[in-house]
Amino acid sequence: MADASSLKNRKILLIIGGGIAAYKTLDLIRRLRERGASVRAIMTRSAQEFITPLSVSSLTGEKVYTDLFDLTDEAEMGHIQLSRSADLLVVAPATADLLARMATGRADDLASTALLATDTPVLAAPAMNVRMWLHPATQRNIAQLRQDGVSFAGPNDGDMACGEYGPGRMAEPLEIVSAIEARLAEKQGPLKGVKALITSGPTHEPIDPVRYIANRSSGKQGHAIAAALAKLGAETLLVSGPVNEPDPLGVTVQHVQTARQMLEACEAALPADVAICAAAVADWRVDNEAGQKLKKENGGLPELHFIENPDILATLSKLNHNRPRLVIGFAAETQNVIEHATAKRARKGCDWIVANDVSTDASGAGVMGGDMNTIHLIKAEGREDWPQMAKAAVADKLAQAIAAHLTQTKGQA
Ligand code: CTP
Repeated sequence: MADASSLKNRKILLIIGGGIAAYKTLDLIRRLRERGASVRAIMTRSAQEFITPLSVSSLTGEKVYTDLFDLTDEAEMGHIQLSRSADLLVVAPATADLLARMATGRADDLASTALLATDTPVLAAPAMNVRMWLHPATQRNIAQLRQDGVSFAGPNDGDMACGEYGPGRMAEPLEIVSAIEARLAEKQGPLKGVKALITSGPTHEPIDPVRYIANRSSGKQGHAIAAALAKLGAETLLVSGPVNEPDPLGVTVQHVQTARQMLEACEAALPADVAICAAAVADWRVDNEAGQKLKKENGGLPELHFIENPDILATLSKLNHNRPRLVIGFAAETQNVIEHATAKRARKGCDWIVANDVSTDASGAGVMGGDMNTIHLIKAEGREDWPQMAKAAVADKLAQAIAAHLTQTKGQA
């Protein structure tokens, strides 16, 4: 069931394009409505080949607008008012054709006219064949639309209805819901105006051009925190090491490989109001990285010399100039969790430490890469013990705590 949602009483104008993914918009409408949003829908002519206006209106509980003739009657809502009265326009599925018409400012049907006649923010969920998505014309249109302020949910990689595999599948309804929440939160939300910086995932430290040192960090927790902060309205930059997690919606992501690149990206992102170091940064790197692939036939075993990596958390915590108002570190511990984490907080100079107990588990949950986490939040003024929770729930709770702290300390140096 939906959480206490930021979508309550928000007005969404859903523009349904003509693609096989149109059927997913029926579930999207349901998800939006159960979160308290009201949904009005415009369907293009070709959308009506895939799903019927009757199905859509049964779910929205509203009349469905299908063409400009609906609007000739004074008693009907004009297309300008239709799009201006919404908090957000959502185009799903955004077909290659509809995106092209948006990018060039066409107004040849109700959908494109409604999109042109408003400055209401627009979120598009593209869906099309892989080749169409990858075609330079579509990519040009996407770049233009991004520049015009349109944001995107998806497309995802996957099997397509046409039998091909690759990018082009429409994002799932719940992913679109998250993107809608993030986009709406930009305009409001307790972290509006706050700039957040998060590190996530492992780092890869090269041994030679083909080998590297890494660790098992999945990036799940760091990525979930970035998504949670964006959902509360923060302008969020995620600096991520190599992970399999998708880029969170509503978040700017900078992909890096090494600890030094991660530090450089963080420093370049300053000033920020809050920094959260959730990455499992490699403590050491190989000082004598080989320029060519190390070969067995050269005889003997390679001698690797290690050198300590910069500590990003300690560096950000100890800045004299531009120190974020709130710096948060993680401590993954298997024993004496509280003592070790408390000492780590002092040693690194951060404000909070999120101590995660990576040993708790009998079932496999709670360990690195799993979906659950058991947290102790350690601050100067004391400690909070959180029950075992899903990583997404930990992220939401931490984002709420950050919002409360930044609100309380607003205006303080
Ligand atoms: N961290 C960092 N840069 C590093 C090493 C760690 O930013 N080079 C951050 C991590 O993102 C995390 C915290 O520091 O927020 C973890 O500290 P660390 O001392 O690395 O913890 P452990 O890996 O648990 O190390 P140990 O217990 O061995 O001291």
